[in-house]
Amino acid sequence: MLMRDRMNHVPQIVTPLPGPKASKLIALDERYTSPSYTRVYPLAVAKGEGAVIEDVDGNRFLDFNAGIAVCSTGHCHPRIVKAIQEQASRLIHMSGTDFYYGPQAELARKLAELAPGTGNKRVCLTNSGTEAVEAAFKLARYHTKRKHMIAFFGAFHGRTMGALSLTASKVTQRAGFAPLIPQVSHVDYPNCYRCPLQTPAGCCFDCLDQIENKLFKRTVSPDEVAAIIVEPIQGEGGYIVPPPEFQQRLRSLAQRHGILLIADEVQSGMGRTGKMFAMEHWGVEPDIICLAKGIASGMPLGAIIARDEIMDWPPGSHASTFGGNPVSCAAALETIALLEEDLIANATRIGEYLIGRLRDLQTRQELIGDVRGKGLMLGIELVRDRETKEPAVAERNTIVQECFQKGLLLLGCGASSIRFCPPLVIDQADADTAVEILDEVMSEMPPARRAI
Ligand SMILES: Cc1ncc(COP(=O)(O)O)c(C=O)c1O
Repeated sequence: MLMRDRMNHVPQIVTPLPGPKASKLIALDERYTSPSYTRVYPLAVAKGEGAVIEDVDGNRFLDFNAGIAVCSTGHCHPRIVKAIQEQASRLIHMSGTDFYYGPQAELARKLAELAPGTGNKRVCLTNSGTEAVEAAFKLARYHTKRKHMIAFFGAFHGRTMGALSLTASKVTQRAGFAPLIPQVSHVDYPNCYRCPLQTPAGCCFDCLDQIENKLFKRTVSPDEVAAIIVEPIQGEGGYIVPPPEFQQRLRSLAQRHGILLIADEVQSGMGRTGKMFAMEHWGVEPDIICLAKGIASGMPLGAIIARDEIMDWPPGSHASTFGGNPVSCAAALETIALLEEDLIANATRIGEYLIGRLRDLQTRQELIGDVRGKGLMLGIELVRDRETKEPAVAERNTIVQECFQKGLLLLGCGASSIRFCPPLVIDQADADTAVEILDEVMSEMPPARRAI
């Protein structure tokens, strides 16, 4: 028995997976839910607490994906539960688009104050990440009176029509849905491990050059571009951290041409990277920030934040019935309090420890080609050969499955990467457990794919 089993009983797998109750639930779900969902492994959840998920058969898992980078304060944090219960007992819905209530105004003020940069800000609340992107897209067009948008290959911005037109992550997400919104150009995102333009490592200039010297000279006049939308760290695309100067240079490029810079912080924001907003790592002030996922510890909520002079659309031009729901806002206010008290600092502290352990693992496991990330937004990229960097797609999928069988919940991203986006409440022992399981699984891979 491993040390982790004796210490805290997580993970604790007590049935074959999926167990009998999980199998029944999965059969029901698969009969009636949309086949468009992507289920990676047969996890049927009954409850969660902190970084622990218990399935319907009583198996206990260590959760290193937090409901896809959402449950930042851990599952069912007592203070979040209390905030939700108290708000639900007073007011569940009134529609913040037509009426006033405290939690919406208070949350808007808090987000406006937190957003980087000077100047007064305003907030428009949505229900999800894709809706936040949709709102940013519309606001950029409305404010600039320009139509064109620039986004990056590998980006995931959501699946509603506007956001999908900006998304360029996987072709299955777009196939069959055309026509999408016209006048969107995609350019390469700087990925130093796999430079799309094959320039020396650490160089971000060529990706920017694509905008300035290819797009603007050949296909679109900069004065027709409303906005450039960028993920501070590319999430679904593979947890790719751009080179240090990239975001700053993109900021100045946009500014030079009167183009708005939209930071899609849906995955990277709300403390995940060890800063409230990932753009703060580079001192960049975006014109519009998109938020969702970690903002309300699992309650559905999204937001855009923009300076007063940018958010100049008139009454009726944008809103939604449920956006800014009071229960979601109460959860968000408590989430932000917890983030500010300790969890952002914990993301930095444990993130540094975890990335160190992953780098150490890389010295022993040749499949790991790259280790990267900030705070608790960390990824490893798996390759069949460190020279050719051939993506180890099947191996990555097997590892994620095997980790699940051993009680560690992970998710892939990019072609052959694994992401680590646990609740920000994890401690060093949780990080050790995760690396220990990963090491064990990788060591059990066929010899050609094994330890150095
Ligand atoms: C960066 C980014 N933007 C937007 C979205 C879409 O968010 P939602 O799934 O809440 O619509 C996601 C979801 O993964 C994301 O990672």
